[in-house]
Amino acid sequence: MVGKPADAGAVLEAHDLCLRFGAVEALKSVSLRVMPRQIHAVIGPNGAGKSSLLNCLSGFYRPQSGAVRFMGEDISTLAPHRRAGLGISRTFQGIQTYPSMTARENILSGFHNRMKGGLFRALLYWGPARKEEEAFAARAEDIIEFLELEQERHHPVGDMSYGMRKRVDLGRALALDPRILIMDEPMAGMSPEEKGDLARFVLDIRDGLDIPIVLVEHDMEVVMDISDRVTVIDFGQVIASGTPDEVRANPAVIAAYLGGEAA
Ligand SMILES: Nc1ncnc2c1ncn2[C@@H]1O[C@H](COP(=O)(O)OP(=O)(O)OP(=O)(O)O)[C@@H](O)[C@H]1O
Ligand SMILES: [Mg+2]
Repeated sequence: MVGKPADAGAVLEAHDLCLRFGAVEALKSVSLRVMPRQIHAVIGPNGAGKSSLLNCLSGFYRPQSGAVRFMGEDISTLAPHRRAGLGISRTFQGIQTYPSMTARENILSGFHNRMKGGLFRALLYWGPARKEEEAFAARAEDIIEFLELEQERHHPVGDMSYGMRKRVDLGRALALDPRILIMDEPMAGMSPEEKGDLARFVLDIRDGLDIPIVLVEHDMEVVMDISDRVTVIDFGQVIASGTPDEVRANPAVIAAYLGGEAA
């Protein structure tokens, strides 16, 4: 089933993914290789299959055929929480934070997936679970500092601007101590200033934390500015992949976008 051998060096790899929803072919033989230290953008018109691809990578959707590999290992059959446990972390389209909880509490909720102490021990607040919790609290502070959320630390997320809530959501995703971060339209609905801030954090995550990023984003200026690689999907198919400059000059890409706008 798994055809070609694993691609040396790729952190996360989609190989020949096909995904159908009844008559809708959301993904038609889509392949993608995310390399270390790269921001890999996935772009394409509405309904092209971008979120479907991310859902296949994180395990929320099961493609009918094809393989997903992480650090060379086939993870195609692993459930989402198992993939998260390996360090595949994601943010979703829209808002996923808990509005009544503070920024810090939301970030702490991201550690839940990594808790090794188990519920019983956590309830008793004994040795290992307590140590783990202390470590998480310290790590949450690192994330708060990294994302410049010090002022918002104790504010309920529901009172925050959209941009700030998305930043808290990013903090929650970072709490998993990811080895790769998958982001679905993190900048949708943001002001230009908020987009600029988030772009800076995404670059810092790549350069400072050494975490590669798969980024679905509609803002072409941001994509072309910060991405190392761009894969373009249209009607469930990869129509181009390369550097931002290569992709920008690709006639198929230009046609797909002009067609999308005219529709
Ligand atoms: N759970 C689902 N059930 C049925 N059809 C789905 C499901 N998820 C996606 N699709 C369909 O698959 C196709 C691709 O959708 P997808 O959400 O992946 O597109 P997208 O590129 O993320 O679009 P957008 O830019 O609007 O977010 C669409 O035709 C969509 O209706
Ligand atoms: Mg989408």
